[in-house]
Amino acid sequence: MQPTHITDTNFRITIGGPNCAQPYSASIYNISAMSFGALSANAISALNKGAAAGGFAHDTGEGGINRYHRQGGGDLIYEIGSGYFGCRAADGSFDVEKFAAQAVDPQVKMIEVKLSQGAKPGHGGLLPASKISPEIAEARGVPMGIDCESPAAHPAFSTPLEMMAFLGQLRARSGGKPVGFKLCIGHRREFMCIVKAMLETRIVPDFIVVDGKEGGTGAAPLEFANHVGMPMVEGLTFVHNALLGAGLRDQIKLGAAGKLLTAFDIARVLAIGADWINSARGFMFAIGCIQAQPCHTNRCPVGVATQDKLRQRAIDVDDKAARVTRFHANTMCALSEMTAAAGLMHPSDFLPRHFLTRLRDEQMITGDEAYPSMPEGFLLRAEPDKHGDLIRWNRARAESFAPFD
Ligand SMILES: Cc1cc2nc3c(=O)[nH]c(=O)nc-3n(C[C@H](O)[C@H](O)[C@H](O)COP(=O)(O)O)c2cc1C
Repeated sequence: MQPTHITDTNFRITIGGPNCAQPYSASIYNISAMSFGALSANAISALNKGAAAGGFAHDTGEGGINRYHRQGGGDLIYEIGSGYFGCRAADGSFDVEKFAAQAVDPQVKMIEVKLSQGAKPGHGGLLPASKISPEIAEARGVPMGIDCESPAAHPAFSTPLEMMAFLGQLRARSGGKPVGFKLCIGHRREFMCIVKAMLETRIVPDFIVVDGKEGGTGAAPLEFANHVGMPMVEGLTFVHNALLGAGLRDQIKLGAAGKLLTAFDIARVLAIGADWINSARGFMFAIGCIQAQPCHTNRCPVGVATQDKLRQRAIDVDDKAARVTRFHANTMCALSEMTAAAGLMHPSDFLPRHFLTRLRDEQMITGDEAYPSMPEGFLLRAEPDKHGDLIRWNRARAESFAPFD
């Protein structure tokens, strides 16, 4: 009954807690992690140029930073996977000096440690020697002619406490930039181990990105994709609640990814706990992806997911960059209209109760009922719990990811 009028559609949030010297003012809609290697040089150039013009961020993916990211000048989130590309020692371990050299670059705004991604959680990756071109070898800091492995787990840490120390080291050596991690939730107890390690070490990440099992990739085992890990909505609400329950939610910003392409998708996910949204395939469509799905064959017909120079010519970088900028701007515009129609002033004002969901044919429930929120500090008070979160919490420990029983 009381729609508002929103003129500024440049919706932003600040990422970076009190221990962060260089907080980042991020758009609430950014380009999700996709590596150079998975995507072509022209695709990366177009995405980055589009992000620069539109004032939003471009996640490098785990393949490291390369010249096509740098040419565009758009804000980068530097993602570090278990292969440590761009900060990798000859034996595949993490090289902190190489990391620092990359991370202090002013174009890099945040550091994201990838624990897992939705399409293949718990699964490593192998870049075959045949795909390692001189450019990819340069970007990833790996030799040519040898298969290059990303192990399923990070070699730099093996316990929750060690993981927090690692994040602390990254923040210090990046000059105090926001540091966080991305994961697709698997065993919920393991995430609670991480939360306990935050409380114990007092090293609190600045952000967490929750990917859903519906996540995409150019290279996931078919049996994994869409089956392993939690869907985005359940994973996000669990993480949101676990942080609330541990009294840490106000120190950590939450990003979410998983088929979030429209204003409505964004509004709904902001309502149930996300602070910002990433999209991978939405921005792929903006640069011409038609989901032909031969990504793993190097024969992408539209030049998006191929290293074949001839095929890449299908992408006119300037034209596609403008489409990337427009897709973002028009989606934000649609989001502003939806926010205004609901009588709100900012998309972050959406709450679970603004959304109804159908349980059965004759029954609608509110978001508050569908996704009940854990009371602030609940896990620390050890009150009786009907959802089993407390049982899980009591089985989690900061010293190890393994269950003790
Ligand atoms: C071609 C492609 C490459 C990807 N590469 C990475 C990667 O390097 N690191 C990562 O964390 N996620 C990667 N992802 C996952 C996305 O960042 C994202 O989390 C997931 O696809 C869900 O978002 P979407 O539904 O908008 O695609 C990739 C996805 C695609 C489609």
